[in-house]
Amino acid sequence: MTKTDQPRVIIFDTTLRDGEQSPGATMTHEEKLEIAGLLDEMGVDVIEAGFPIASEGDFTAVSEIAKRAKTSTICGLARANFKDIDRCWEAVKYAKSPRIHTFIGTSPLHRAIPNLTMDEMATRIHDTVTHARNLCDNVQWSAMDATRTEHDYLCRVVEIAIKAGATTINIPDTVGYTAPRESADLIAMLLARVPGADKVIFATHCHNDLGMATANALAAVDAGARQIECTINGLGERAGNTALEEVVMAMKVRNDIMPYRTGIDTTKIMNLSRRVSSVSGFPVQFNKAIVGKNAFLHESGIHQDGVLKNVETFEIMKPSDIGLTAKNIAMGKHSGRAALRAKLKELGYELADNQLNDVFVRFKALADRKKEVYDDDLIALVADEQTNDAHEYLQLKKLRVICGTEGPQEADMVLAIDGVDHHIDATGDGPVDAAFMCVKMLFPHHARLEVYQVHAVTEGTDAQATVSVRLQEDGRIVTGSSADTDTIVASTKAYINALNKLIVRRTKSAPGDDVKTVSYMDQK
Ligand code: KIV
Ligand code: ZN
Repeated sequence: MTKTDQPRVIIFDTTLRDGEQSPGATMTHEEKLEIAGLLDEMGVDVIEAGFPIASEGDFTAVSEIAKRAKTSTICGLARANFKDIDRCWEAVKYAKSPRIHTFIGTSPLHRAIPNLTMDEMATRIHDTVTHARNLCDNVQWSAMDATRTEHDYLCRVVEIAIKAGATTINIPDTVGYTAPRESADLIAMLLARVPGADKVIFATHCHNDLGMATANALAAVDAGARQIECTINGLGERAGNTALEEVVMAMKVRNDIMPYRTGIDTTKIMNLSRRVSSVSGFPVQFNKAIVGKNAFLHESGIHQDGVLKNVETFEIMKPSDIGLTAKNIAMGKHSGRAALRAKLKELGYELADNQLNDVFVRFKALADRKKEVYDDDLIALVADEQTNDAHEYLQLKKLRVICGTEGPQEADMVLAIDGVDHHIDATGDGPVDAAFMCVKMLFPHHARLEVYQVHAVTEGTDAQATVSVRLQEDGRIVTGSSADTDTIVASTKAYINALNKLIVRRTKSAPGDDVKTVSYMDQK
């Protein structure tokens, strides 16, 4: 079978909906538009852009993404009620190819929450899918918690949804409970038993609570599912969703036993992974399949020797397949702008001239402080440039810190607030606390620090630190990040970055927006 004869698997990305649902992974409006643009360019078939009824912010993001999408279908989520579905349609209708995705929990546990009998739920499914289909030709219906739903009842409601006009039927493993064989059997059972099943696309939507999301999704495809729902880096509630990069690369690398094709340009994977990690504030674990920092590193002598003799001894795919083309050759302070531009291009970044100029200035400053500037340093630097806009409301101008074994630690800071410089000093329980105290005194707020994480970008004591900070204020959750060779500077900038996001969120969303006030259980 040639590649073009192979069944096509639709890639449905839900980074901006299920992924963004992870507490603290909230993205700003601009970040969502950027990620959606990158997903579209990468060849994702369907982008689930958000849950339009959830907040004004979600609604605006979904409608703006719908207006901008070039080739991807844009989908919004709606519970099984007319109000949600109408709001969803209002947001997605601008897309060249819109989709309404409506769902209800069908398992006994989920049926008990809205207190619907089996018959009442069946009627609700019929009515809501019919309503969605009257608005939009492309309707997806999901049986939330399908893997814990009685088979007879699942067949019954899937048949009702198909008859009411659903074009895609999604079978979610909402709590990551299933295993590969069961996942395949469930799809096979539905295809065999449900009248009309051959007229629709079956989708698989797996969560990773037992670490089987990728295996379960691929098993479902083997049984006949033709849409995989996934997220970049496996971002998502609890242990996350199926990782896009894993299923796509698995079908590419093991095409001999998984003969399916996708429309994904895999060379764009690495860049997307970095951007999603950076804007969500969720670092990618070092040993994460495909996109982890160590995924293509060969540490042991035997492995290094083998790879040098024949790269295929220990590498089943090429780094370039996912867009890792650069050799990790350090740049130094004598490297010029053209070399930097070329290097960034190799790393997957094509910056506008003004952005390149800013990165170049920062690169020179970094090269003065650090003997060798590695690829990962440059990646951190670009991410920082993209995250910390020079026109933000709060900007760190100067910071000096006195710390050591004798307390109290002291910070002396100049912070620009709306373009006006303010000076202050403060003491604290450690240098980070002292620096944060300065910010808090100059810009009073009651946001609570929920997460503070520091990672070294490269080895050595002169390595840059990347810091992420998560704040919560009145139910609004924001994550800020920054990088610097000085950990205290990186921490302060990450804190300020989070506050700048919070300032934007205060104007765009209601209190409590991120601690979802709309519950999936509430189907009224
Ligand atoms: O996991 C799940 O069941 C979901 C549904 C809303 C499709 O995300
Ligand atoms: Zn989900």
